[in-house]
Amino acid sequence: MDTVLSGIRSTGNLHLGNYYGALRNFIKMQDENNCYFFIADLHSLTTHPDPALLHGNVKNVLVDYLAAGIDPDKSVIYVQSDVPQVTELYLYLNMHVYMGELAKTTSFKDKARKQPENVNAGLLTYPTLMAADILMHNADKVPVGKDQEQHLEMTRRFARRFNNFYGVEYFKEPVAYNFGQDLIKIPGLDGSGKMGKSEGNCIYLSDSAKEIEKKVKRALTDAGPTEPNSVKPDYIENLFTIMRVVSTDEVIAHYEEMWNTCAMRYGDMKKQLATDIIGVTTPIRERILELEKDDDFLRKVAREGAEKARENASKTIADVRKIMGFKSF
Ligand code: TYM
Repeated sequence: MDTVLSGIRSTGNLHLGNYYGALRNFIKMQDENNCYFFIADLHSLTTHPDPALLHGNVKNVLVDYLAAGIDPDKSVIYVQSDVPQVTELYLYLNMHVYMGELAKTTSFKDKARKQPENVNAGLLTYPTLMAADILMHNADKVPVGKDQEQHLEMTRRFARRFNNFYGVEYFKEPVAYNFGQDLIKIPGLDGSGKMGKSEGNCIYLSDSAKEIEKKVKRALTDAGPTEPNSVKPDYIENLFTIMRVVSTDEVIAHYEEMWNTCAMRYGDMKKQLATDIIGVTTPIRERILELEKDDDFLRKVAREGAEKARENASKTIADVRKIMGFKSF
């Protein structure tokens, strides 16, 4: 049985990118694997969240996870900061991780450009913390979107380096995983490359039908193609990319045909796209509205998940300390 692990930063509600990049793949794997899904609240600290809002964001993500279909009877769901062993492993791994390789990570360079006033060391060592999350449970597969591919590559490198340095075969080399296909990137509806919380272009799982209709209606389009079978500009390709994950094959084929024959009516396409997104999000949103009232249940899930995750994490830390040469007097 494989161990599957994934996580999402607690910086806001979950959006379609999180769902199709990570969550849905994970949910499909719950029955046949040893599964861990966690809320990365330590990773959210790089942007200095207001302490009064931190817990609320963790709660939102927990509610979204459960509403989307992560089942606490099948998977271990936990909050990262409830498992302090992860910060210990992060420290040990950091001793074998080099400034140069961290500084050239794409996500670090992006963030450093976007928030030049706050290029903190936590941002630089973000991939090490992520490796600690993954190696802590010795995961085989990590369902993530395309944007996390480089972090997984680094995790494998750190695992290999640790094993080589200490002459052990302890950590496995985990792979970034998407059920049956390549890793995906869900684009924003604003013509930009990626749907993301910091890009402010998200459709959230918790959005109402009205909000979704409004967001899709506003998506960038143009006067339509004038040449048959022409290449789509990025902002139109983006609409098709979203359609490919939410709509049926017939619907997708229909609009491809409309495009190729220059008979495109964007108003119709957007209406269909909104309807199909709403079809995916409505059952999730209904469960969100129920679950967010049930604090007792949420407390129970988080407590039991933390206990299981800590139990496994303590074993890893004991092994790692032994491998590194720590001994008690
Ligand atoms: P985060 O919180 O930015 O995103 C969570 C997951 O959602 C995926 N994702 C997307 N996939 C496709 N298209 C998009 N537009 C899109 N936006 C987000 C991400 O690829 C990710 O899988 N560093 C991680 C959190 C993390 C983690 C881990 C993940 C911390 N430790 C260990 C896996 C294993 C992050 O910031 O993801």
